[in-house]
Amino acid sequence: MIPEKIKIPQIALGTWGIKSEQLVQLIPQAIKIGYRHFDTARKYSNEDGVGEGIKQSGVSRDEIFITTKLWRTDFLRTGSAFNASLERLQTDYIDLYLLHWPFFFWSKAWTDLERIYKSGKARSIGVSNFNIKELETIKKKYQITPAVNQIEFSPFYYQKDLLDYCQENNIQVESYSPLTRGFRLEDPKLKVIAQKYQKTVPQILIAWVLKHGLVALPKTTSLLHLQQNWDAQQIELAEADFAYLNSLNENYSALSTFWSRRGRPI
Ligand SMILES: NC(=O)c1ccc[n+]([C@@H]2O[C@H](COP(=O)([O-])OP(=O)(O)OC[C@H]3O[C@@H](n4cnc5c(N)ncnc54)[C@H](OP(=O)(O)O)[C@@H]3O)[C@@H](O)[C@H]2O)c1
Repeated sequence: MIPEKIKIPQIALGTWGIKSEQLVQLIPQAIKIGYRHFDTARKYSNEDGVGEGIKQSGVSRDEIFITTKLWRTDFLRTGSAFNASLERLQTDYIDLYLLHWPFFFWSKAWTDLERIYKSGKARSIGVSNFNIKELETIKKKYQITPAVNQIEFSPFYYQKDLLDYCQENNIQVESYSPLTRGFRLEDPKLKVIAQKYQKTVPQILIAWVLKHGLVALPKTTSLLHLQQNWDAQQIELAEADFAYLNSLNENYSALSTFWSRRGRPI
């Protein structure tokens, strides 16, 4: 079953690593700029800050799109984990509820998400970090097609086969770490393109993600960057530059880089 297509605001504020206290200040600012989509997760320990920030903005709940995610340690108690997320976010429904990673028991957890979707408390459900094989398993064995697959996606990690598969199967792809978590912003190849458009490298990266039809989830705690990232929606990349950026794939993962610099494997 392919659920009715939901409208997802194309730019979200990513919130990984931002503390709740900071989000309470940041989210009303983001909403003033125009952001309506916030990407959080139980694992980020900041859902309460997202909920409070939205409340303090004064904008009504139905104008906001909230994504949160089920963490692996909750796969065997999905119902209570979902309710706890609702409570922390100060809401009675989630716009998009994702399975954060395909760990053990993910298929059982997907059945739970289907139940939550049918209850109406999650307006849409999806997955994150799923590969084609795992998506095929859902297609063959379960009732509901995920609305979304949230994956790492940047020119240096251009997961074309997975994107093609998702687009053929009506699964919206969302790009996490679209700015390479900050690791590759000085790359000379990107700087040349940015200079050509008189824009910043992050703006070019966001424009590239959007031109692919993806939802972009850039994270920032800076007001200037918040505005710049939002303004990237105005950039029209020429086909030749788009193709050039498509050619930069290195299967480079910013997440792997992050963890390897901390001496821990992901
Ligand atoms: N589903 C998953 O498994 C998963 C995994 C990773 C991430 N995510 C989601 O995706 C979101 C984004 O990914 P991410 O947090 O890994 O990293 P990211 O958005 O790729 O990069 C964030 C970094 O870029 C910098 N930055 C942002 N805008 C900038 C600008 N305009 N100019 C210069 N620097 C800029 C930020 O610093 P400043 O604060 O100084 O701007 C920060 O250091 C996360 O927050 C989370 O919501 C999901």
